[in-house]
Amino acid sequence: MIYIHNHKQFSYICLTMEQKELNISYKEYGNVSELSPEDRLLVEQAVKATLNSYAPYSRFHVGAAVRLSNGETVSGSNQENIAYPSGLCAERTAMFYASSRYPEAAMEAIAIAASKDGELCSMPATPCGACRQVMAEYQTRSGKNMKIILAGSDKIMEFDKVDDILPFIFDSL
Ligand code: THU
Repeated sequence: MIYIHNHKQFSYICLTMEQKELNISYKEYGNVSELSPEDRLLVEQAVKATLNSYAPYSRFHVGAAVRLSNGETVSGSNQENIAYPSGLCAERTAMFYASSRYPEAAMEAIAIAASKDGELCSMPATPCGACRQVMAEYQTRSGKNMKIILAGSDKIMEFDKVDDILPFIFDSL
């Protein structure tokens, strides 16, 4: 700790700045076959959900599948609208449906996939900020970590909890 003596004002300033670092760890796989059978199934459901996406404006078709603590899985896809902000991402479509249908169940994992021009994207699609915020709330609500699996055909990223894609989650209301 450094103290600076200011003669004019006869006051002491205490400098407390510390440089901090945030360390986030996650897994990367090259192939879905490396995932556990239940995670592989969830990725397959997310890929399947891309087929139900309604994305005439972006032509970016996203699918999400949520695995619940009661053994159910629920999927959703992005739904666009000519009034752009009225549309909704795949992740929130799936999570809102899951919570509406099974309000007591924890969301244990969510898998996300995207396709363009009828082909699965090679790199994982990463969720937007609003979807991360919604994931955070459901994770807090259940008190159980929500695993996030971002699936591309050439790369799969896996995060153990929402905190790893949304650090400093807002929780101070
Ligand atoms: N989209 C999702 O469904 N999930 C995301 O995390 C990012 C973006 C959708 C919204 C829109 O329909 C399209 O992708 C292009 O942004």
